[in-house]
Amino acid sequence: MTTTTRIGVGGDYDVVVGSGLLDELPDLLGAGVQRVLVVHPRALAATGEGVREALAAKGFEAYAAEVPDAEEAKTAQVAAFLWGVLGQAGFTRSDAVVAVGGGATTDLAGFVAATWLRGIRVVHVPTTLLGMVDAAVGGKTGINTPEGKNLVGAFHPPAGVLCDLATLETLPTNDFVAGLAEVVKCGFVADPVILDLVESDPEAVRRPDGPHVRELVERSIRVKADVVSTDLTEQGPREVLNYGHTFGHAVEQVERFAFRHGAAVSIGMVYVAELARLAGTLDDDVVDRHRSVLTSLGLPVTYRGDRWPQLLDAMKRDKKSRGSLLRFVVLSGLARPTRLEGPDPALLQAAYAEVSR
Ligand SMILES: NC(=O)c1ccc[n+]([C@@H]2O[C@H](COP(=O)([O-])OP(=O)(O)OC[C@H]3O[C@@H](n4cnc5c(N)ncnc54)[C@H](O)[C@@H]3O)[C@@H](O)[C@H]2O)c1
Repeated sequence: MTTTTRIGVGGDYDVVVGSGLLDELPDLLGAGVQRVLVVHPRALAATGEGVREALAAKGFEAYAAEVPDAEEAKTAQVAAFLWGVLGQAGFTRSDAVVAVGGGATTDLAGFVAATWLRGIRVVHVPTTLLGMVDAAVGGKTGINTPEGKNLVGAFHPPAGVLCDLATLETLPTNDFVAGLAEVVKCGFVADPVILDLVESDPEAVRRPDGPHVRELVERSIRVKADVVSTDLTEQGPREVLNYGHTFGHAVEQVERFAFRHGAAVSIGMVYVAELARLAGTLDDDVVDRHRSVLTSLGLPVTYRGDRWPQLLDAMKRDKKSRGSLLRFVVLSGLARPTRLEGPDPALLQAAYAEVSR
């Protein structure tokens, strides 16, 4: 029997987790929707068409639009293409967008929904692990510009999120494992049971059909839901979700985005753990646990040692820093996030030495 779990996000919308969930879509779309546009990447043409057909069978005027895979979808040109589709089909304020895909697709489709007629409903159907535990939950949407990633966007919470775990089975292993970095992050900042589950059988956790995947997905979504429901626009508590991301983003920039986000965040978490240890807030055993958990999943924990000036420069330009002061989310213990502001430059470089190979 298929069971579903519903996780409320601040009483505003639900994230539904289970397998074979298409029947739940009309409910999540809410009342009054007549037209729906299913946005999907090329890699998920069959899945997207399946969703469109299921909605048409339920009486919706259902359209589908195919967009490029991954970051190529997050451009002003692709957004304009979707605005054109909505315009030609006569979408009104009471109609809706359904995003079927990874974080790139949900970011793009969410942004188009946020901007069409100043905001129409969007339901996300994330098909990557990162999409389920991170990108589709929380209401951040956006596209890239030639100057940088996610520079244009809007806060636009979805009407609902449908995580169908069966869709993960076609996801390449490297993408799935990269998503596990965000799961581990949730373990360190808020829910250490996640770490216990990973340590109980890391090999099984690396498989989308493994026995603990559903619980890991649900626990990670709960962590994100708790945080974003108190802080939609990133003024305060939501900052904990950036654990490992300041250094991780710097690695992504230095590597010109040829590095997977999750892999960069994995190194970034070890970096801030070392930073916290050097600053005297974190014990050696928790730092070691970062390395052992991430390594057991096949995630990287070291980075090349000859890039410090570029990394420091990238961290200073990070869009989440305020003014010239570098800020990091660090731990003062398991599930005890705190903020480290303007650390001594020598400490920053010493932490880099600890993750350099
Ligand atoms: N809005 C947020 O809060 C937030 C948070 C984190 C990340 N993001 C964004 O998410 C994006 C990364 O998302 P991602 O890691 O999900 O990658 P992605 O969306 O780029 O997907 C990775 C690749 O896998 C394909 N794919 C997706 N699902 C598949 C499936 N089930 N089977 C086979 N192939 C599949 C995609 O077409 C793509 O080629 C970035 O653009 C990032 O900025 C947003």
